[in-house]
Amino acid sequence: MLKTKNKPSKETTKYLLKRLVRNYVKKHFSKLFLAFLCMVIVASATAINAWMMQPVLDDIFLNKNLEMLMILPVAILLIAIFKGMAAYFQSILMNFIGFRIVADVQSEMLNSLLKSDLSFFDSTNSGTLVSRFLADVGSLTRGVHTVLTNIVKDILTVIFLVSVMFYHDWKLAIFAFVVFPISIFPIVRIGKRIRKISTQTQESFGDLSSKLSQLFMGIKTVKSFNMENYEKKNIGNTIEGIFFLTYKANKISSIARPLMETLGGFAVAGIIWVGGSQVIAGETTPGTFFSFITALIMAYQPVKSLAGLNATLQNAMAAAQRVFFIIDNKTNISDIGNDDIGILHSQKIKNIYLKDINFKYPSSKRLILKNISIMFEHAKKTAIVGPSGAGKTSLLNLLPRFYDLQRGEILINDTNIKTFSLKDLRNFFSLVSQDVVLFDNTIKYNIQYGSPNKKLGEIISASKKAGCHGFISKLPNGYETEIGENGVMLSGGQRQRLSIARAFLKNAPFLLLDEATSSLDTESESKIQIALDKLMIGKTVLIIAHRLSTVKNSDQIIVMNNGLVVDKGSHSKLIKTSILYKTLYKNQLR
Ligand SMILES: Nc1ncnc2c1ncn2[C@@H]1O[C@H](COP(=O)(O)OP(=O)(O)OP(=O)(O)O)[C@@H](O)[C@H]1O
Ligand SMILES: [Mg+2]
Repeated sequence: MLKTKNKPSKETTKYLLKRLVRNYVKKHFSKLFLAFLCMVIVASATAINAWMMQPVLDDIFLNKNLEMLMILPVAILLIAIFKGMAAYFQSILMNFIGFRIVADVQSEMLNSLLKSDLSFFDSTNSGTLVSRFLADVGSLTRGVHTVLTNIVKDILTVIFLVSVMFYHDWKLAIFAFVVFPISIFPIVRIGKRIRKISTQTQESFGDLSSKLSQLFMGIKTVKSFNMENYEKKNIGNTIEGIFFLTYKANKISSIARPLMETLGGFAVAGIIWVGGSQVIAGETTPGTFFSFITALIMAYQPVKSLAGLNATLQNAMAAAQRVFFIIDNKTNISDIGNDDIGILHSQKIKNIYLKDINFKYPSSKRLILKNISIMFEHAKKTAIVGPSGAGKTSLLNLLPRFYDLQRGEILINDTNIKTFSLKDLRNFFSLVSQDVVLFDNTIKYNIQYGSPNKKLGEIISASKKAGCHGFISKLPNGYETEIGENGVMLSGGQRQRLSIARAFLKNAPFLLLDEATSSLDTESESKIQIALDKLMIGKTVLIIAHRLSTVKNSDQIIVMNNGLVVDKGSHSKLIKTSILYKTLYKNQLR
């Protein structure tokens, strides 16, 4: 879905360039101006160096002029110093601008991604997103950098050097203009092929990095299914592919230098023959001729890089297109935008009503929830039961607006939830989910996540209620213990209780619990049960329940199947009237 064409159209290129300049380059105008000034100095110094060959040869070596022997070396030294300083400042200025652009683009992408809907992430692989951040932003910036530097420095250098050539000998200059492109042309062709390969290489690198991260995340699964050999082959193929591509690129570029030198040899030989006969005939001095040929040789490098400029630009524009695609990604979950927290909190009784809801995921056509109406009364507990795939988690996702519905509305005290800011709304719910997500940081950081202003005392009291203070205080570093990626250093039950402590600390009035089906041992299960029971006190609760005790204690039980509410009521009623509930009760809940 994020794959865009490799070559943007002319119109697109124009638009992308304009946007890049307007948003990222323009604000560095003063630095850019200084850098350009330095480039002018560098370019003129290069041309003056070429020009100096004439007096050096004619005055010092041929005419043995002692005065010139004093002046010229000093002049050359001064030029070298100026050129060096200018090159240094140009380089640090342009690097500053380049790295600034990287950081600006990356922050903008990050902002946009953080705002993106969950459905965007459902359909985009995380490896791809990482490679947008690293590879694409890199080649975008390289492009901008090269273009800005080359256009000014190389064009000026070429203009100045060509002027030197024409100034010395316009006939020979015209001759050189005919011979010279012949030796440039193959280099440009080779450059194009190499760039094509390097695009493929970059894609393979993205592929490799996403395969590797999946491998390391799933290493336990890989080992338990004895898939090491398979993965060795699978990922090995990608590694081999990268080897092949990089080797091929280098093979092609190895041709470039000898070819360039051979063809350049032809061009120089031709010019020496023509120029040499002029010198012998006395039409020009040796100094003039050497100055001419120095200018010609010096012009080679900038001409070559200017010839490749368009390709570099195209590459950068392709990257820009993919990067802007992410920056421009529109959210469908509309937010009224203000950041007020508290409108919802200030209301006393909070009944939530799902009114005649239809829902489907943006990525599919099928309705997942059909004609659902449920009332969640203030401080009451509602359990949802139903077979796997019935739509229980999907229903829960609608309340904090992780997804928006197609028909119907969700009302809190008769007000549509869309009229509250997302921040306010999400602050109103605490979600404790099937899959606990913990960050690679300390225990304290993880409990405090989402409630950054809470003090250590409050964190400890939340942990006590969640039943995790005991094991935390036994750890060598207590609350400062690092728990590893997704809490690998903790047991399943400990992870679950940390997430309950997090919910205690957030203390939202409405609890959304997606109970884990994965069976924990009875001891940690009962610990979690005790923690959850405490957490539910005084709160409005929607719980996707697999445990009999939870279900029995609920004020209302909703039985779902195939996206429909098939039965509703108390345990004692449903056990008599609902066939599905009876079956679930027998097979699953018990
Ligand atoms: N992000 C998604 N995008 C598209 N379809 C989805 C997505 N998440 C779930 N579904 C589909 O929605 C249907 C209901 O899934 P849901 O997760 O709500 O089931 P559930 O009742 O919670 O099941 P379980 O008890 O196994 O957790 C399933 O058919 C599933 O394939
Ligand atoms: Mg579920």
